Amino acid sequence: MKKEMKSSLMLAVNPNSKRQKEDFYATNPKALLLLLESLKEDGIIINKNIWECACGEGHLSKVLINKGYNVKSSDIFNRGFGDVFDFLKGKNVYEGDILTNPPFILAEDFFKKGIETLKKGNKLLLFLKVQFLESETRYKLFKKYPPKYVYLYSSRQQCSMDGDFKKYKALTQFYTWFIWEKGYIGETLLRWIKPKLKQESIFPPKPEVMGIQNAKLI
Ligand SMILES: C[S@@+](CC[C@H](N)C(=O)[O-])C[C@H]1O[C@@H](n2cnc3c(N)ncnc32)[C@H](O)[C@@H]1O
Repeated sequence: MKKEMKSSLMLAVNPNSKRQKEDFYATNPKALLLLLESLKEDGIIINKNIWECACGEGHLSKVLINKGYNVKSSDIFNRGFGDVFDFLKGKNVYEGDILTNPPFILAEDFFKKGIETLKKGNKLLLFLKVQFLESETRYKLFKKYPPKYVYLYSSRQQCSMDGDFKKYKALTQFYTWFIWEKGYIGETLLRWIKPKLKQESIFPPKPEVMGIQNAKLI
């Protein structure tokens, strides 16, 4: 078996078998483009100011910049994009929405810090594995803070070590977007994202802004 194929199969069987240092997995920009398209169709508006608070190499930030949002980008490590900032430390205040794909093991911490950081009525959008919906401890969390929307993909999306989407092709995880609106109490609406992008959503309309080498849409 080819070495490359073997390593992506290993990840498919056990996603923890070769975890990237500090849980850096870049999100394929297509995943965010698909969400933005669905939000637009559903009339859900996100704030013009967005904080990508675990930005990695900027795969999500660049999509947002390209779509005209004012994006603040930071990460605990310098990955060559955004400011160096530990989102989980200290007290943050932000007047806008927060959107990221956080390290899954820290998802609850990012949720808590995100909600604390936001102003009432603003949104927290987290790209998470579908398993985040389950567990006894999160039962209490969801009772207190129901997400306003959960957007499920109808096709599997790709996250890749070091942003190398060509190398790790196995689509092993079922990702979703959890969207909280600070202060929202009510039912959670479950929505499905269409499997394919509309032609006009496909970048790069501005390659100089995107600047992503391996982010080929698949
Ligand atoms: C799964 S990667 C996602 C990167 C990027 N959001 C994307 O979607 O391409 C998670 C990122 O969270 C960063 N991270 C981990 N702990 C952090 C913290 N306390 N504050 C800010 N960033 C953190 C990691 O360095 C890593 O780049």
